Amino acid sequence: MGANPRTSQPRSPVNSSPEHKAAQPPRIVEGSVDDLATALLETAPGARLFRISDANVDALHGAALDAALQRHGAEVHTLVIEPGEEHKSLETVAALWASLIQLEVRREDCIVALGGGVTGDLAAFVAATILRGIRFVQVPTTVLAMCDAAIGGKCGFNLKGKNLVGAFAAPERVLHWYPLLDTLPQREFAAGLAEVVKSALIEGEEALVALEEDARQLAARDPDASRRAILSAASTKCTIVEQDYRESGARKLLNLGHTFAHVIETATGYGDFNHGEAVAMGMVLAARASRQFIDTETGLETRLRSLLETLGLPTDAPTLPADTWTTLLRRDKKRLQDDVQLILVQQPGSLVLHPTAPNDLAVWLADGAPLTVTPDAATAR
Ligand SMILES: NC(=O)c1ccc[n+]([C@@H]2O[C@H](COP(=O)([O-])OP(=O)(O)OC[C@H]3O[C@@H](n4cnc5c(N)ncnc54)[C@H](O)[C@@H]3O)[C@@H](O)[C@H]2O)c1
Repeated sequence: MGANPRTSQPRSPVNSSPEHKAAQPPRIVEGSVDDLATALLETAPGARLFRISDANVDALHGAALDAALQRHGAEVHTLVIEPGEEHKSLETVAALWASLIQLEVRREDCIVALGGGVTGDLAAFVAATILRGIRFVQVPTTVLAMCDAAIGGKCGFNLKGKNLVGAFAAPERVLHWYPLLDTLPQREFAAGLAEVVKSALIEGEEALVALEEDARQLAARDPDASRRAILSAASTKCTIVEQDYRESGARKLLNLGHTFAHVIETATGYGDFNHGEAVAMGMVLAARASRQFIDTETGLETRLRSLLETLGLPTDAPTLPADTWTTLLRRDKKRLQDDVQLILVQQPGSLVLHPTAPNDLAVWLADGAPLTVTPDAATAR
């Protein structure tokens, strides 16, 4: 992938002044590690930097980023956390708070989140809360974090359910250094592509067709196809976040597949599936629910399954008992009074919120999500 520094702000003008920071998506800077160091230090001149990474990323890439930052004159402190969704917890947050206080963190300092979505969500939450908030920069190291998690300002941790404690806090910059992806395990690379598929479904037919055309190259981790896919998804997210930072409207569409995914992740103890895999299965359930509950496009589920499978993602959710679905659907943050706000797809680019009673949904899901609309009837409509 390109080593030249580029600044990508798809469809959104750059404005990082403090009064706009909350409503504007962050500027995405692409380039080499030194370009990133330069951009980072421009963002936080004179700040001490606290780099937070999980142990895997720290071992693979921490030294290279720290060395670049030090070459540019920065003072860097490193805080390492345990990898994995199971460590996206209050205990990890508390340990980071304690370390920062011990290191005498100051208001003008800056946190650098070098890692995937788990690190990014935790580091951003810690930055939002320590000393009532200090600056932070995201250096995402997974596909999922580059195209989604690092953008948009949502942060937090899991407590009795997925992401149930958190805040909105916008990073100063998101820095894309694509060679970081070279070490990403194939399963994690594929998982990130689930959010790319989600974004294409939200964006519309043209984006979905482009992704379908690129699918084989993406599955083979072709660098240009990967960068195209990441930037396209990031662009969709930036546009939506700009319209609706606090998720009172359009941003809810980004939860496509996530209501089901969060139940699958929580019910399986974050062990069997990673987030992207759960989102892939959740989107297939959302497509099926779209057939069941609204007048959706015929063949969408089949088309989605085919794309996800080409990208190496699972499409069949595990069987869960109805009471597990009910209990966990009731914990969904996006509930409106008693109803779950399902995101359903009429057709690519046209998504709707569909309030549904958790009990009814749970019984349908536990029964294997049977379609009462038969494929033939749907075709004839
Ligand atoms: N804030 C948001 O808007 C938002 C959006 C989507 C997802 N998320 C969150 O993101 C999290 C999932 O993120 P993720 O999929 O990036 O998971 P992750 O951060 O757990 O990373 C996945 C695994 O890959 C390893 N890894 C990361 N980068 C690597 C690299 N370059 N080379 C080798 N190994 C590497 C990590 O150590 C980890 O084991 C979930 O907690 C989800 O809730 C947040």
